[in-house]
Amino acid sequence: MSEPERRHLLQIEGQKAEDLTQLLDVAETFLQVSRRAVKKVPTLRGKTVINMFFEASTRTRTSFELAGKRLSADVINFSGSTSSTKKGETLRDTIATMEAMHPDVLVIRHGASGAPHHATNYTSAAVVNAGDGMHEHPTQALLDAFTIRQRKKKLAGLRVAICGDIAHSRVARSNAHLLRLLGAEVVMAGPGTLLPVELEALGVTVYDRVEPALEGADVAMMLRIQQERIGGALLPSTREYARQFGLNQERLALAKDDCLVMHPGPINRGVEINPDIADGKRSVILDQVEAGVAVRMAVLWQLCAEEPLP
Ligand code: NCD
Repeated sequence: MSEPERRHLLQIEGQKAEDLTQLLDVAETFLQVSRRAVKKVPTLRGKTVINMFFEASTRTRTSFELAGKRLSADVINFSGSTSSTKKGETLRDTIATMEAMHPDVLVIRHGASGAPHHATNYTSAAVVNAGDGMHEHPTQALLDAFTIRQRKKKLAGLRVAICGDIAHSRVARSNAHLLRLLGAEVVMAGPGTLLPVELEALGVTVYDRVEPALEGADVAMMLRIQQERIGGALLPSTREYARQFGLNQERLALAKDDCLVMHPGPINRGVEINPDIADGKRSVILDQVEAGVAVRMAVLWQLCAEEPLP
């Protein structure tokens, strides 16, 4: 008998709108599980999830861990900085080592674009991309879409402005694919040196100032400057950036009155977003975090559950 084909979640690009909408629907069920007094269902009992984080993470790692645990899977966390990667072990050998322990899902965050895809060659587990270099961060885009849908009851026809360091952002790339696929209008803004040329081909309007992007926006999604990926002089200074591109009340006033303010985190307060806005009434930054657990539960369920929804 041939092995059942394992599916992976490596990117949003190339996926079908109906499949992703269905995933968001499943996440609604799991949001309710997380809000109960007993936040656990037996759905993934006997399954093993290994979180392999070769890059720093707060939200993504903890929410994948909680997602697995709330589904009753056995969850192991592996960190690049405390593993044999530090001793020179290759990704291939690390994956093969994990594979020998029969995991059902490998959740991988890696600084190299394409690393999760590469890993699929050395494991029969389902692989989930938890952010790969400057490529994609599919579960972040899904939790962002979920958060918008919860608040606005729809995605089609909304104007979403994504502002900041677009060039180095896997969040921007996954969101551009997903939000456009689900019918939203996506506009982006950032300093000219941080705007990749291929974006317009995705059907995204690109500005080198934030004001025209924010005009009439239903959602303002602010992104962090990815200092760790810039490694050079693409920006004059953080202060200058905050002055020209940071979200303040004056700029937010250009958007619709009920504009949602989003940020994937981690926030650099006073740089890409002013603290009064990050903590203000339009901010849904912590709703995004809550949605992250629900969406990741839906992803794990879809990849390896043999039981119906709880
Ligand atoms: C993002 C990431 O790691 O890509 N954060 C996250 O997963 N919530 C964005 C960032 O690091 O700025």
